[in-house]
Amino acid sequence: MLDLARRAAELVVQRIENLPDDTAWEGEFKQGLDAQFMQDPPEEGRPAADVLEWAARDILPIATRLDHPRCFGFIPTSPTWPGVLADFMAAGYNPNTCTWLAASGPSHLELVVVDWLRRWIGYPDSAGGLLTSGGSAASLDAFVAARERAGHPERATVYMSDQSHSAQVRAAHIVGVRPECVRRVPSDGRFRLDMDALARAVADDRAAGFNPIAICANAGAGSTGTIDPLEAMADYCEAEGIWLHVDGAYGGFAAVTERGKQLLAGIERADSVGMDAHKWFFQPYEAGCLLVKDVGRLENAFAVPHDMLQDTIWGGNHPNVSDRGLQLSRSFRALKIWMSVQTFGMAAFRRAVSRGMELAARAEDFIRNSPNLELLNPASLGIVCFRISPAGAGLDDAALEGVNRTVLARVFWEDRAFMSSTRLRQTFALRLCIVNHTTTWDDVRETLETVERFGAEALPRMGES
Ligand SMILES: Cc1ncc(COP(=O)(O)O)c(C=O)c1O
Repeated sequence: MLDLARRAAELVVQRIENLPDDTAWEGEFKQGLDAQFMQDPPEEGRPAADVLEWAARDILPIATRLDHPRCFGFIPTSPTWPGVLADFMAAGYNPNTCTWLAASGPSHLELVVVDWLRRWIGYPDSAGGLLTSGGSAASLDAFVAARERAGHPERATVYMSDQSHSAQVRAAHIVGVRPECVRRVPSDGRFRLDMDALARAVADDRAAGFNPIAICANAGAGSTGTIDPLEAMADYCEAEGIWLHVDGAYGGFAAVTERGKQLLAGIERADSVGMDAHKWFFQPYEAGCLLVKDVGRLENAFAVPHDMLQDTIWGGNHPNVSDRGLQLSRSFRALKIWMSVQTFGMAAFRRAVSRGMELAARAEDFIRNSPNLELLNPASLGIVCFRISPAGAGLDDAALEGVNRTVLARVFWEDRAFMSSTRLRQTFALRLCIVNHTTTWDDVRETLETVERFGAEALPRMGES
């Protein structure tokens, strides 16, 4: 095992070293993969070293390299190496962080890490939570707590902006909110939830006999990085007695910086907040977190006694984390966050998060100054949306969409960078999400220059009829 572990570490390190010269995306059609791998499991084993090399050569690289410095698609992640080693250690020691009895050291470390996050977002001592697989699970657990606080009513409704992530919609469905009762509230010109529209929707629903159980705010919407009006939403939810959940899966960790704290002002007034350390806190998957302002609400919603687990009850001071969410058996997620922060210190994390925002702001300037690019939404946190749209080209939206799709595909197949797109209202938008601690301005600038060049080549030649 020691020899294999050394080889595994060597492979991971080599990969990281070679990453900048590699492409950010690699993929394969199913037919090709079927031919290689869709086989019965072998009856007899083969040398472990061969299996390791096989996986490293033919399986692991066939994926988007989310930690590539030019990976700007969707919401990428770039794990720090202490986090990677922590996951290896956690698997090797394999504690089950379900209960205090099963794993008091790891359970305690989870309390420590959750408490760090609690303080970063400005929550009171009464708050607590748990680490989850990610933002989807955090929202699911939050909506369960919200539903229970509302008394598990019939005809439950949930509200979120038209920019909210599909994970929120899915979580609402899973907790029993009928699809037609998930209200998508219109957003304003900057893609922030429209408060008047929210108030109207809630009032209309109440008059019609529906029961609002939760309102969901974006702290970094996936498409645009938009932050909803958190203070106004908190005022409204307090006045109306409705649970406010903040989806900070992407943007929540901006709270570790001074600028981010200002942008997220009001987050501390929410009933619950979800944050993904596997997005903007540089951890390998899976590392989400749900914080609930009154952690008792979470335990009321999830703790279910079971005779077989009676030995695990150690009293209020020794929480069983499994009483706070969906999972009983749980991996030791806290270790990676703790080991990374202990290794680098918070100053390094603050610099790395700030850098994403700074690079996005520089990308915005570049786009504003380019005669061939059009800014579609200013940088928000680390995301900027734009398209190729040369001044005076006289192309309509459909033609521009064609040009931009062509360019996106060329970046995908021909360039080292990886980008993705979104739709802002009806407009097709290219989108950069800059959250990698190894990304430099040259990475961003050269990617934008490539987009400009491919754009010039894709445009129908001016003057041709
Ligand atoms: C804004 C936002 N919310 C929620 C989610 C879902 O989180 P996860 O994929 O960690 O479950 C994502 C995922 O990218 C996201 O960007």
